[in-house]
Amino acid sequence: MDKLRVTGPCRLEGRVRISGAKNAVLPEMAAALLVEGPVTLENVPAVRDVLTMAKVLRHLGLRQVALEGSTLRAEDDGVREPEAPYDLVRTMRASILVLGPLLARCGRARVSLPGGCAIGARPIDLHIDALRRMGAAIDIEHGYVVASCGRLKGAEIEFPKVTVTGTENVMMAACLADGRTVLRNCALEPEIADLAAFLVACGARIEGAGTPTIVIDGVTRLRGTLHRVIPDRIEAGTFLMAAAITGGHVVIEACEPAHLSAVVALLKECGVPLTAGAGSIEVRPDGQLRAANVTTHPYPDFPTDLQAQYMALATRADGVSVITETVFENRFMHVGELRRMGARIVVRGQSAIVAGPAPLSGAPVMASDLRASACLVVAGLAAEGETVIDRIYHLDRGYERIETKLHALGARVERIK
Ligand code: EPZ
Repeated sequence: MDKLRVTGPCRLEGRVRISGAKNAVLPEMAAALLVEGPVTLENVPAVRDVLTMAKVLRHLGLRQVALEGSTLRAEDDGVREPEAPYDLVRTMRASILVLGPLLARCGRARVSLPGGCAIGARPIDLHIDALRRMGAAIDIEHGYVVASCGRLKGAEIEFPKVTVTGTENVMMAACLADGRTVLRNCALEPEIADLAAFLVACGARIEGAGTPTIVIDGVTRLRGTLHRVIPDRIEAGTFLMAAAITGGHVVIEACEPAHLSAVVALLKECGVPLTAGAGSIEVRPDGQLRAANVTTHPYPDFPTDLQAQYMALATRADGVSVITETVFENRFMHVGELRRMGARIVVRGQSAIVAGPAPLSGAPVMASDLRASACLVVAGLAAEGETVIDRIYHLDRGYERIETKLHALGARVERIK
């Protein structure tokens, strides 16, 4: 089990290129099940979740699902066995994204329930309710979602709560349904608009992706195409926090500042001098960080996926920051590890109250989930001495070569096999 050794404190200097968005490419890979002919995705991050999704797709019968550099190719020659097995799905809950495409393309699917993870129960009831509304018969048997349908039918569906992969699963299924589907209270994340752009390029008829109401008129077939994946706004936000906590001077390139408005606004409130350019954001060193409160919400508000990384930064800010998590029920696993590094944090219900600036000292710590591990890297950059982060397979799920990128910015980071 690999570990990461971070030696601080350091000051990051230089330029870093952001990779493609993991949470855009995962649904786009699942969408390859919907289309005939080859699919080529460019700007794909070489992260573990992409390799896991490729395994799932090969298991479902797609040929040549292979990543060469940052280009992924997949070709469907008729999905044979529409079953996504537990041993693959349990390692990545996003595998549930094959459910809608399999139902739409083959009329049946057997997908393992994803199970919970460190940050919460992660139910998929909203996915299932919506697909039932489109005519699918769905049962839960022995830990599997067992689904079948004739041709799915267009339907009017209002999501009782905003769900990113729920919106994506149903939007994909609706592309091949009979008639019009209207989805209301949809998630607004940029990854949804990117998925819709890919599907429209394959011949789908979708209006309104990126707004609360999406209208899909079903067609009978979709053809593969080439698509360039949007930059990863969460990786970009993670590097913003890393630059800010070290008082560094970093230019973050190949990113999309428009996807980070709430993050840029919060960091400016903390006194971090930021300049957003076309496709880049520059972080300059400046005086003392100021405390600032934040509450996580669905896009376009501050993202839950950057809550842990911001908490690391807040431990070094002057004053008290109240960080409130409203999206997931258990996303404070990093608090205990930060406290072992000297952070002063107390949790009250859904809020973590951070008093700073606390001097951080390096310590052996444990990653619990993808973004908590990123938080510990950010804290380690500012901590005095060595921070050894265990279980960094969590980190490898969503960050491409993070130690190489940080090393190029002057950080002392090494992977211990
Ligand atoms: C997506 O997860 C992302 N994953 C998550 O990123 C991200 O944290 C999350 O959206 C919120 O932005 C991918 O896109 C692959 P949700 P998702 O459905 O779709 C509840 C990362 O670090 N809910 O929007 O699973 C759910 O429990 C990952 O890259 C139901 O109750 O999140 C949660 O409280 C972590 N029933 C809330 O809704 C459902 O059927 C939002 O979940 C579905 C969701």
